[in-house]
Amino acid sequence: MNVAYPKSGYTTPDQTLDGFIQLVQAGFENPEGRRGTVRVVVDGYPHLGFRARFFDDLRVDRPQEYYEADTEIRFSLSTLELIFREFEVVDWRSPEVIGSTELKGDQSLAFLLAFSCLRPSDWTRERFAKVARKHKQKGYRDGVVIQRLETPSQYQLLEAMEESLPIIITGLEPTPPCDDWSLDRLEQEYGEAVVFMRSASDHVTMKRFVAELRNSGEGQVKGGSSLEFKSYTEGSRLPDEMAGNFGTMYFENEDFVPPQLWFGAVATDVPATPLHRDPLTGFLFQVIGRKRLDLYSADQAELLYPYKSYNTYQKCWFQPDKPDFDKYPEAKAATCTSVELHPGELLIQPAGWFHQVYALDSPTMSVSYFWRY
Ligand SMILES: [Fe+2]
Repeated sequence: MNVAYPKSGYTTPDQTLDGFIQLVQAGFENPEGRRGTVRVVVDGYPHLGFRARFFDDLRVDRPQEYYEADTEIRFSLSTLELIFREFEVVDWRSPEVIGSTELKGDQSLAFLLAFSCLRPSDWTRERFAKVARKHKQKGYRDGVVIQRLETPSQYQLLEAMEESLPIIITGLEPTPPCDDWSLDRLEQEYGEAVVFMRSASDHVTMKRFVAELRNSGEGQVKGGSSLEFKSYTEGSRLPDEMAGNFGTMYFENEDFVPPQLWFGAVATDVPATPLHRDPLTGFLFQVIGRKRLDLYSADQAELLYPYKSYNTYQKCWFQPDKPDFDKYPEAKAATCTSVELHPGELLIQPAGWFHQVYALDSPTMSVSYFWRY
């Protein structure tokens, strides 16, 4: 699955740019048949700019004369170098990348180019392959029973992980997180905590965030609508103050990547998170509102058209909520197991399961973190 990528050794700006172009061309996929033109500009190096045109492949040239483009991306050279150093882990939404990149025009073309730069580590590919073998052997594509276990022991948890079976943990009260969190309580306990809205590289206090949520009618958002205020945190980092109530459980804190916050107003009629899979085991605390996860076993990868270019998570071209079986015919055979998560419950999702997430209520709040093993 891994595609060829340039090795290190790009020391001059020209070499860096040539390598970048090779990277995006080798990783480019366009099953949706998008067409368009992107102008790429490198700050301070006018001669390095290039034009990327979307066909079934990606065509790159460097016209001398003016040309029309649907999208303009302005990078710094250091951002290009960062991508080379870290394409197995780089996150385009992180402040160091998004903060030094300017986008104009049709952003969806820029995102397609951005994904083309990513590559999975050998560890990630081996993990997915291993999990797929396990799921196939166990017949998980025919459906699994997701058990609710009341305050299980660490041993029970490890057993479920060994079998690669998702489980839901209940009965976490009175130890937080419990099921009586509300906007009022968040405001009272964490009014001054800083809440980040990741995609906007923006942040406000919890007090302000809650006030904005209330102003937007506590989140009656329909799919496709756009709000002026970015009212969803999209997995930004959990404010430190909240770690006491929503911190890690069962294993040492250092065994987890830092927790992420999913809080705000979301549409309930479209997925809050599109179909993808993660190479690490996920812990998902549901705090406010209900969520539904549609899970697909790892051995169904070939039915779900996963991106070839990815790093820390792998999205799918196939979208179960608006299935296009003309483009993705194999997906007709895919089967999923759905599970509803209620406030106060913790879902443990072993690595490699594909999942699409719906918030069934708005506002919604969850805290997630990944176990490193
Ligand atoms: Fe995920």
